[in-house]
Amino acid sequence: MSVTPSTEPLKFAYWVPNVSGGLVTSTIEQRTDWGYEYNKKLARTAEDNGFEYALSQVRYMASYGADHQHESTSFSLALLLATERLKVIAAVHPGLWQPAVLAKWVATADHLSGGRVAVNVVSGWLKDEFTALGEPWLEHDERYRRSEEFIRVLREIWTSDSAEFRGDFYRIHGYDLKPKPLAVPGRAHPEIFQGGNSTAARRNGGRVSDWYFSNGEDYEGFSEQVAEVNAHAAEVGRTPRFGLNGFMIARDSEKEARETLREIIAKANTPAVEGFRAAVQQAGNSTGDKRGMWADSSFADLVQYNDGFRTQLIGTPEQIADRAIEYKRRGANLLLLGYLHFQEEVEYFGRHVLPIIREKEAALGGRELVTAAR
Ligand SMILES: Cc1cc2nc3c(=O)[nH]c(=O)nc-3n(C[C@H](O)[C@H](O)[C@H](O)COP(=O)(O)O)c2cc1C
Repeated sequence: MSVTPSTEPLKFAYWVPNVSGGLVTSTIEQRTDWGYEYNKKLARTAEDNGFEYALSQVRYMASYGADHQHESTSFSLALLLATERLKVIAAVHPGLWQPAVLAKWVATADHLSGGRVAVNVVSGWLKDEFTALGEPWLEHDERYRRSEEFIRVLREIWTSDSAEFRGDFYRIHGYDLKPKPLAVPGRAHPEIFQGGNSTAARRNGGRVSDWYFSNGEDYEGFSEQVAEVNAHAAEVGRTPRFGLNGFMIARDSEKEARETLREIIAKANTPAVEGFRAAVQQAGNSTGDKRGMWADSSFADLVQYNDGFRTQLIGTPEQIADRAIEYKRRGANLLLLGYLHFQEEVEYFGRHVLPIIREKEAALGGRELVTAAR
């Protein structure tokens, strides 16, 4: 299936560092802080440097050496209230939230923020956190069946005055949420993102989500997902958008950027990375076809816990802009970015990388983008 790249400008999101230890499991210096004061300043910097979205992370207990973490929904709301234009995507686990309670939380957060809240539905890979909280740990594809119902319930409650749902996991009876989320041009309701790359995740991405997030991937791996998710979407008449994770190392010279990557991996916290590798076997690798996030990740890939090096947004601003445009051609609507030193590098991105991406987008124009995709 050929892809028609979006004629809209590429969008950018950054990972909210609400988890200690930064975005790489390495002892290399990371001038990033997981606390609120740092994050508040970062959010303001990001919205002034081309970022339309921020994505918070959810984790109820330590993994990959990240001992501390702020809760995603409350932290997201705090960032929304500290900013003016940034949309903040709060990560949530079906299985730990009752969907109507979350729908209600989102409606309030939406009113408080002027229609800027979104959710990222994450189906869960960390068995220990469900066990510690006394909640059942469902088999992989059952987790995704539950997530599909969860998303359907959210949409039903946000759009119906008498929400009804009869599922295997959730039941809703004539519920009228008041107030509903705000009416915002360009969206039917607060946007629903989905993390996960397994066969089941791709199906949910196409059938029910507004946005499908890919973990870090090379060109072919990303294109393969876009094609499969779009095929599921076509069956039900939906048109999801695509976000792609990438760890960005933009430096004045390619040599400097490559040396930074080398140092990150050389200083990997090996026991923490190995512990993470063991835990993520509960993701796509636990399924019959063994497809999904981390299913074929190398040790070096896992040092950035969302496979962010694979996207190769590493080099000079010019080199990175070329890759960003190629991903756009292949169907990306948004790049989700992580950094070593968030505050400084978000500013560097806005000053040096973004203008080149915009120039290249303008030079291409809609016609050439479509031709290039054939
Ligand atoms: C962009 C992105 C963000 C994610 N954020 C979280 C998160 O904050 N917390 C979490 O437990 N899992 C998170 N996940 C993991 C997924 O929910 C899921 O457990 C994982 O992708 C494995 O799915 P798979 O087996 O379908 O590949 C995220 C995944 C992606 C792609």
